[in-house]
Amino acid sequence: MPALGYGTWQAKDDSLEKALEVALETGYRHIDTAQIYENEEVVGRVLKKFFDEGKLIREDVFITTKISPLTMYPDKVEDCLKESLRKLQLDYVDLYLIHFPITIVTTGRDTYGHPNIDYVQIWKKMEEQHLAGRAKLIGVSNFSIKKIERLLRNSRVKPATNQVEMHVFLQQRQLVDFCAQNGITVVAYSPLGCSGYNEFLSRYGQTKKLPDALGNKIVAKIAKKHSKSPAQVLLRYLLQLGVSAIPKSVTPERIGQNFDVFDFALDEDDLASLAALEVGNAARICDFKVFGRITEHPNYGF
Ligand code: A2P
Repeated sequence: MPALGYGTWQAKDDSLEKALEVALETGYRHIDTAQIYENEEVVGRVLKKFFDEGKLIREDVFITTKISPLTMYPDKVEDCLKESLRKLQLDYVDLYLIHFPITIVTTGRDTYGHPNIDYVQIWKKMEEQHLAGRAKLIGVSNFSIKKIERLLRNSRVKPATNQVEMHVFLQQRQLVDFCAQNGITVVAYSPLGCSGYNEFLSRYGQTKKLPDALGNKIVAKIAKKHSKSPAQVLLRYLLQLGVSAIPKSVTPERIGQNFDVFDFALDEDDLASLAALEVGNAARICDFKVFGRITEHPNYGF
C-alpha cells in the first residue's frame, strides 16, 4: 500500500473526476473510496480512462473501498462488493474494509445500531470475498483495540488494515502500537483535521466546533522552518509515525502540495513539539453521533 493515498470522501461528480485525474497525473497510486461515498462510479470511470490510454495498468494502483454500514448484513456482503466492483469497473479491489463496526438502521426518523448484527459475522463473509479473489486484502475501519482483539480471536484471515481518524490532535498512540505489534497497517483519515466536516454535518442541520490543525501556530512555525506548508507538516508527521495518510482535496494546487512530502524530514525537536499537541478523544471529529441512537449500541466506542 503506497503510504500516501488520495481520499475521496465528500468529493463527487465532475469535481472528483477532474481532481482524481490531477491526483493520478501527480503520482498518487493509492485511492480511497467507499460504497457510502456514492462516488465509486466516478473513480471507476477515471481509472478506466487511464488504463485505456495506457497511462496506467491495474497493478499500478491500490484501490480501497468499504462496505456501507447501511447495508452491512452477512447475506449482502458479496453483493455489496460485486456492486462496488461493477461501479469501479474492476475485477478486484486491493483492500475491502468494514467501514464501521455497527450496522446502521433507519426507520422513519429513528436511527440506531442493529441489535443482532455482529461485525464478526460480517468478517466471516469478508474472508470469503478474500478467498474468492475479489479483495486482495481485507480490513476494518473505526475499530478500537478491543474490537480488533475480538476479531483476531475469531478469524481465519487477519485484518490487514485499520483505517481510523488520526491527526495531530488525535494521535492514536496505543492503537498504532497495538496494530504494529499485530502486523496491521494503520491508515489515517482526516489527516489534516477534516476542515470540510461541517459541510457533511450541515446535511443534518448540525455544526461542530473543529480543532484547527491547519491553522495551528506550532505547525505553522515548523512549516516555516522547512519552507513547507502546514498541510505538508501534518502529513509528514503521520508518515514519520509509520502510518499511511489519505488527505482529501479537490483543489489541484493542494493535491500537488499534499503529495510533495518526501523531500524533507521532521527532526527530533519538530517531532516532540508535534507530539505535545495531542488532545486525545476530545479532539475526535468523526464520532458518528449524527447517526442518532447508534451511541446506545454495545459496539459503539472508539
Ligand atoms: P478542498 O477539497 O476544497 O481542497 P481531511 O483530508 O483531513 O479530511 O481534510 C480535507 C479538507 O482539507 C478538505 O476540505 C480540503 O479542501 C482541505 N485541504 C486539503 N488539502 C489542503 C491543503 N493542502 N491546505 C489546506 N486545506 C486543504
